[in-house]
Amino acid sequence: MVTAKPIAPDTRRTELCAHFGLHHLPFTRELSIADRFRHPQYDELVEDLRQLVEHRLSAAVIAPAGTGKTVVLRTLKEALPEARYRAHYMKVTDLSKRDFCREIATAIGAKSAGYYGALVRQIQNRCEALMATESLRPLLLIDECHDARPDVLAILRVISNFEMDSRLVVSMVLAGQGPLRTMLRRDNLEDVSRRLALVGTLRLLSRNETQDYIEHRLRLVGGQTDLFDPHAHEAIFEATQGNLRAIDSLAMRALQLAAGAGDKIADAGVVTRARAQVWP
Ligand SMILES: Nc1ncnc2c1ncn2[C@@H]1O[C@H](COP(=O)(O)OP(=O)(O)OP(=O)(O)O)[C@@H](O)[C@H]1O
Ligand SMILES: [Mg+2]
Repeated sequence: MVTAKPIAPDTRRTELCAHFGLHHLPFTRELSIADRFRHPQYDELVEDLRQLVEHRLSAAVIAPAGTGKTVVLRTLKEALPEARYRAHYMKVTDLSKRDFCREIATAIGAKSAGYYGALVRQIQNRCEALMATESLRPLLLIDECHDARPDVLAILRVISNFEMDSRLVVSMVLAGQGPLRTMLRRDNLEDVSRRLALVGTLRLLSRNETQDYIEHRLRLVGGQTDLFDPHAHEAIFEATQGNLRAIDSLAMRALQLAAGAGDKIADAGVVTRARAQVWP
């Protein structure tokens, strides 16, 4: 009996690209910021954040999973000139108070040894020195805050407190899903909350925006923009309600199924089958 060899993921990738004439896989998580989907809701939020940071203020972005918060933080980081900012992106999930401080200390070039109290002082001193001697503004981009321990986030109040709040030295932009909003209201985080000059959000894409997004992602990989027929677009929107990450997963699976069936265009039927596989 001849057993069929399982097809390696790389082969599948190559076959999918060849089938649709793409030079890369579409809808992947790796996305260079230059290739992002330009849309006022992202661009305006990034610009608002940039201006706040310019004035040494702090902010938060609170929105559901998969709506583009991390991409917004990365876009902001890229938008800030390195000669003027010392910006550090970090995920706060599961970090202890000490590890949180150590990561910040390392990022800004402070000594990262010692216990919590000493670390906080080293961070504050280094932030002052960055400003005074190198004219660099420290900025902390802290992602996945909804998964942080409240006592860890509470450190931000201490770290960003200079001369009883009379001077603004460190800016921070927090990002997280809905529970972050509740956390900021409770859990002894009112002081952190008060430091936030803006709490921005991101909404789901509309029907037309969802189609624009899909076509943008196809264009990026050299594809025809009509690989999905109008009913397929409708089915994708209905299934995902315009959530970017959900669109990525579903559109990708639909293309794989279409390619497997030898179809050059994905229709609503293939999207429905893909949906059952992605979210069984
Ligand atoms: N502006 C954009 N342009 C193109 N693709 C985007 C953009 N924003 C988000 N995406 C796509 O959507 C996916 C989800 O975005 P992102 O990781 O930023 O969501 P998130 O809100 O941080 O989700 P989570 O709360 O789960 O961390 C990304 O992997 C990327 O593929
Ligand atoms: Mg994220």
